[in-house]
Amino acid sequence: MALYTRVSGSVGVITLQNPPVNALSAAVRQGIVDMMDKALNEPEVKSVVICGQSGRFCGGADIKEFRTNMTGPPLVPMIHRIESGAKPVVAAIEGVALGGGLELALGCHYRIAHSKARLGLPEVLLGLLPAAGGTQRLPRLIGVPAALDLITTGRHVTAAEALQLGLVDEVTDHNTVDAAVKFALSVSGKSVVARRISTYLCPRPPDLDAFFEMAMQQVRQKSRGAIAPVACVQAVHAAATLPYAQGMEREKQLMATLFGSGQARALQYFFFAQRAVSRWSTPSGAHWDTSKPRPVHKAAVIGLGTMGRGITVALAQAGLSVVAVETHEKQLMEAKQAVSGMLERGAKRGRMVSAHDKVSYSCSMQSVADVDLVIEAVFEDMALKKNMFQQLSSICKPGTFLCTNTSGLDIDLLATQTHNPELVVGMHFFAPANVMKLLEVVYGQRSSAQAVATAMQLGKKMDKVSVAVGNCRGFVGNRMLKPYLEQALFLLEEGATPELVDKVLEEFGFAMGVFRMSDLSGLDVGWRVRKADGLVDPDASTGKSARIRHGFRYSPLGDLLCEQGRFGQKTGRGWYQYDRPGSRVAKPDPWLHSFLEEYRTRHGLLARRIDHQEVLERCLYALINEGFRILEDGIAAGPEDIDVIYVFGYSWPRHRGGPMFYADMVGLTKILERLEHYHQAHPDVPSLQPCSLLRKLVASGSPPVYRWREFIKKIHSQL
Ligand code: COA
Ligand code: NAD
Repeated sequence: MALYTRVSGSVGVITLQNPPVNALSAAVRQGIVDMMDKALNEPEVKSVVICGQSGRFCGGADIKEFRTNMTGPPLVPMIHRIESGAKPVVAAIEGVALGGGLELALGCHYRIAHSKARLGLPEVLLGLLPAAGGTQRLPRLIGVPAALDLITTGRHVTAAEALQLGLVDEVTDHNTVDAAVKFALSVSGKSVVARRISTYLCPRPPDLDAFFEMAMQQVRQKSRGAIAPVACVQAVHAAATLPYAQGMEREKQLMATLFGSGQARALQYFFFAQRAVSRWSTPSGAHWDTSKPRPVHKAAVIGLGTMGRGITVALAQAGLSVVAVETHEKQLMEAKQAVSGMLERGAKRGRMVSAHDKVSYSCSMQSVADVDLVIEAVFEDMALKKNMFQQLSSICKPGTFLCTNTSGLDIDLLATQTHNPELVVGMHFFAPANVMKLLEVVYGQRSSAQAVATAMQLGKKMDKVSVAVGNCRGFVGNRMLKPYLEQALFLLEEGATPELVDKVLEEFGFAMGVFRMSDLSGLDVGWRVRKADGLVDPDASTGKSARIRHGFRYSPLGDLLCEQGRFGQKTGRGWYQYDRPGSRVAKPDPWLHSFLEEYRTRHGLLARRIDHQEVLERCLYALINEGFRILEDGIAAGPEDIDVIYVFGYSWPRHRGGPMFYADMVGLTKILERLEHYHQAHPDVPSLQPCSLLRKLVASGSPPVYRWREFIKKIHSQL
């Protein structure tokens, strides 16, 4: 709702009240309409201030209402009424003015912001566009290029940038409502005709057509198939070329297309999914709400390779003191130089400048004796990691949390090496660890609630999206990746090329197809793991490697490339060829195509034409099927956890919601049918056999993804 008060005799103050972010629910909109009428009709009132309660102006439209039969007054006429009224209206912006909140402020005649406020039109991130006049008023106020940037990216600007852009009239360090009231008094009785943004002429760049052509091209390139950014460009184009009223019509039409789209549903689901994962729980009853994290002031990182360096940087940038440990002086000095370079580059991009002083370097394990938490990032070798955990358990002060960055080794086994297994958790970062947002916090059977809570809290402090997951081979992300990679290899055996598979996956929206991604991360990494698992055939070097392991189909293609020293980008050859080692430009490699042909001939495989649909279904449905297994096993608490992991860790296109949301969109019955079809064709591939949870969901009428958590809980409680 909205509260109305009168101050200083002639200023009406309307306060939006809808905690926590004063979203524009039906009740709030009704409140604004009623209070605005009151203010405009009261003769004593000469000017109006609109503000939000509890230091937050407004977080925009109420996203929860989007999936309901929306009632209450619509935003467009409500904002028009404010703008067209004769009394000056001042927006007092504290905290945030986002989406509909900023559009409301743009309908006001003046805007005063607190210096800590953030403003933006983030609708595009929810698959929409600012459809309460935002796409028409913003370009008229700040010009087409700046408006296009804000509207197509959804980025928030600081009050200082807003002032520079001309988005706000004044910035204050003091009480914003007081400043707005003072301002309102100063403009009382003045005409507002010249302050109605909808009447402004839109300032246009010189060569309008060329400008928009270029803008559209850039947006399409970045959006990876998302439709909202494209519609945003079209709406701003309308602002630049049409009168206001026609521009508003265009905005409305474009919004109608977006509103009903699957992408908007996916992105809105994802908004709530991101928030849901921070309310984690574990099967043993540990819970975000009751488990108190312990503060971590000083941490250690053991092993300063690719991951350890990134983790050290992220910890230091989060303000922690870090002891960074390597085996020998030479490795230590190399790492020190690399970490310093990363911190310097970070400082240039506005990250913590003093982070340098936070890191100390050592070759002695004894130097970690007084830290609160250790993150081990040595080679992926169980014997070595066991040894590390034994040492750490003896050296560290009592109560130190011992974390491992393993990509998939058994956390419980590592915990057994220590005196206090309850202090052991996995903290699985993604490369590069100072950049990638995802952190899987892996709890073992004996990890304490406090250890999980502390790792989750530390992740948040490091600006990561942390997801709590159970302990199993590969945890959630890498476990699901395995059948996906496997299908891609089988498709090559059956006649596809890396270019075809990657093209289909990139068209779906992945930043990189599976083969380009493997070349980037290095083919040798998986090869080493497969060797340790006894999967790599000793005959691989002769090229005669068999295609069956433990009774099931296995593709040795990756092993064969590694035998040839083709490790991907780092060696200049992998599934593609590169101009030089380290280059990022992948080019099709004729050698690889002949190699595949020879391989097929050697194994009596007939190459067939494989269409896009098969590539997509086999790769994605195998991955989704593993997701259902993970839910069934209780490794992830709900589909949201899996989806957040895939979007932030594996470049799954956000506008498709994540793999489990996508499965719901496609339809569980269809996924089941297609998996059955492919499993019949490939009975020796267990990952294509539909999982029983999927069957149970289909049998119970395919409840929507929002209900799965509850459904799974019921199944578990019946076991
Ligand atoms: N509508 C409905 N609920 C909203 C909301 C909105 N526009 N904005 C935030 N919320 C809810 C969140 O879901 C969360 O609910 P929960 O506590 O049940 O999980 C709560 O408000 C707090 O939000 P959170 O994001 O956790 O708080 P924050 O302080 O980190 O961030 C904002 C605040 C406003 C910056 C952030 O919530 C945000 O970006 N909101 C969306 C803004 C937006 O896109 N507006 C345009 C809508 S078209
Ligand atoms: P890396 O080979 O780049 O680095 C490992 C480092 O550990 C080396 O610098 C080595 O000198 C050091 N080391 C070895 N023994 C040590 C000891 N006893 N004391 C101190 N330092 C020691 O490996 P990486 O890619 O950084 O991987 C490290 C861990 O992170 C592995 O468990 C890996 O599975 C995991 N991981 C890797 C990635 C990735 O993409 N590289 C992603 C997530 C997790």
